[in-house]
Amino acid sequence: MTKSIVWHHSTITKADRQRLNQHKSCVLWFTGLSGSGKSTLANEIDRRLYHLGIRSYILDGDNVRHGLSKDLGFGKKDRIENIRRIGEVAKLFVDSGQIVSTAFISPFRKDRDQIRKLFPAGEFIEIYVNCPLNICEKRDPKGLYHKARRGEIREFTGIDSPYEIPANPELMIETNKYSINKAAEMVIDYLRKKEFIQ
Ligand code: ADX
Repeated sequence: MTKSIVWHHSTITKADRQRLNQHKSCVLWFTGLSGSGKSTLANEIDRRLYHLGIRSYILDGDNVRHGLSKDLGFGKKDRIENIRRIGEVAKLFVDSGQIVSTAFISPFRKDRDQIRKLFPAGEFIEIYVNCPLNICEKRDPKGLYHKARRGEIREFTGIDSPYEIPANPELMIETNKYSINKAAEMVIDYLRKKEFIQ
């Protein structure tokens, strides 16, 4: 791997971009089982932020796997690489002064902790979208649990591939207990409390 590369500093800084946007930037890292509600919740938060005049964006597992990560599967090595890429892209978004929501299963604690280290304290907000497996399986919006149970899909998270529960997430949201509106409010309240937004 070549090491003859030098970081080029840009004239306009992250702080300048945040000032222009009139809000701070951070990553809302949603993690949880397939069908737990990560994308739905990220989408509702993004919608609310947009209407509050906040510059935000979503990186979603299913979409990113159509492009940036389309060469990756669901074995451990590929999932690690998927999360590494998203972490780096999320960092660019935060550097650009935006609030970026990422919705990936991101099943391994070590990988999530690695991503956390890319950010200054406070800017990586881990949100554990907590929903019991049996409920995710009942929801089964894409019919994938059904296929995994029948052995048609291998290494499916929660079935024959592990999900490591976050040890210390900034937020934990039980999507089987709260409405989508209430859950979105909890995240927006957190952003206000921590003064990312007014
Ligand atoms: S991650 O483990 O690398 O973070 P990611 O969030 O990108 O996963 O993709 C998960 C989505 O891919 C699921 O919501 C589901 O729709 C689909 N999928 C297909 N195969 C699998 C599998 N073996 N395990 C988990 N999700 C899968």
